[in-house]
Amino acid sequence: MAVSLVDGDAVADVIESHSSTPGALLPILHEVQDALGYIPRDAAVRIADALNLSRAEVHGVITFYHYFRSEPPARHVVQVCRAEACQSVGADALISHVRERLGCAKQAHSADGRFSVEPVYCLGLCASGPALTIDEHLHARMTQEKFERLASRLEEQS
Ligand code: FES
Repeated sequence: MAVSLVDGDAVADVIESHSSTPGALLPILHEVQDALGYIPRDAAVRIADALNLSRAEVHGVITFYHYFRSEPPARHVVQVCRAEACQSVGADALISHVRERLGCAKQAHSADGRFSVEPVYCLGLCASGPALTIDEHLHARMTQEKFERLASRLEEQS
């Protein structure tokens, strides 16, 4: 169940909705990120306290899974699959191109805050790689040329 920010304190609502769920950490982290776009540091502390976990344990889970963000995302988020099947068909070259093209070669976010590029590890399109998402929309059999067209459209929207 995703909780909306308009429902008040989204973090408290998510924690409360899992008060009797065994192994609630991952579902809570997913729902907080769905609601806020990332997991703020103070939310991680509240989650740790609520689940009787150490802050280091929660921080460790957040940093272990590439899916979770500790900082607000850019306006447009590109996630490039770097798992084995996509790597075998050019994902490494593709992510380098995407990062360079969007101004994210040296950091996760472009300097203007419009774009971020994140690695992910499987998008479920393993037979149609390399795969990526742009603002959560899946794109299969991506090429640098196809990405150029998509990037131009993104820039027009921004
Ligand atoms: S390995 Fe890339 S989508 Fe599965």
